[in-house]
Amino acid sequence: MSLTEIRTPQQRARKVTAQTLLEKKRQQQPITALTAFDYPSARLLDEAGIDLILVGDSLAMTVLGYDSTLPLTMGEMMHHARAVRRGVRSALLAVDMPYGSYHAGADQAVRNAIRFIKQAGAEAVKIEGGSHRAALVEQMTRAEVPVVGHIGLTPQSLHRMGGYRVQGRSLDAIDTLLADAAALEGAGAIALVLEGVPREVATRITAAASIPTIGIGAGPDCDGQILVLHDLMQLTFADGAKFVRRFADADSLLRQGIECYRAAVGDRTFPSDAESYHLSADVAAQFESDMALIAGRP
Ligand code: KIV
Repeated sequence: MSLTEIRTPQQRARKVTAQTLLEKKRQQQPITALTAFDYPSARLLDEAGIDLILVGDSLAMTVLGYDSTLPLTMGEMMHHARAVRRGVRSALLAVDMPYGSYHAGADQAVRNAIRFIKQAGAEAVKIEGGSHRAALVEQMTRAEVPVVGHIGLTPQSLHRMGGYRVQGRSLDAIDTLLADAAALEGAGAIALVLEGVPREVATRITAAASIPTIGIGAGPDCDGQILVLHDLMQLTFADGAKFVRRFADADSLLRQGIECYRAAVGDRTFPSDAESYHLSADVAAQFESDMALIAGRP
């Protein structure tokens, strides 16, 4: 890292807003985004200068051990979103609305989104789906809820898609995606996550949209990129998708640390005397003599 890359405390304390993301698109500066699910990871991401932190519903698989995002509840999401909030100062904090929390109608959706804003300090919510969500995005936006759209491979549509498949491969499907992006932008979405779409399609949507696109498995030409933190840190117990780059190996690091601990407890080298608390000399002497008296020694 060169000296000019070292950020001042003022730069680190900058507050990222929807306008910041828009400005970055205009200036063609890449937007950085990652998921966080707890306080320590939120702090690490925020202090590293990540622009957008998403409490994604991938929480369901990565941290809670479900096999899809579908079972995740409002209560579980709220619990983690509140923890992340406590670790975020600068980044824009967005929260995924879990499956079922916005599918029963606009009234339910707006109420739940407002709960995330009031109770978890969310600054935006993300919902999945294209043109058929445009009216909802409009209503949420009118209720002062900034909405991030999410199109392409939408994991909450698992059963309808018949699996996690790259979307937008045919000409018809491309037209649909372009229309989805335009509809969400028109409805007031502040940004669009493009997941699992061919690079060429993401490039076209990014060029056409005046709001930022944030890609995951959508190639390098989006306005920004997002990954699931546990994927890039190799902490998933699974092979990553093609688009995941392993930037670190937390799995090995954690296993190594846990094994060292197990061995040290096993051979009684942990804790050492230096890692133990001790009585002061006078209390120790008194204690010793009390013990001797109890034992009947002079
Ligand atoms: O839940 C999630 O992790 C997401 C991705 C787009 C990052 O929605």
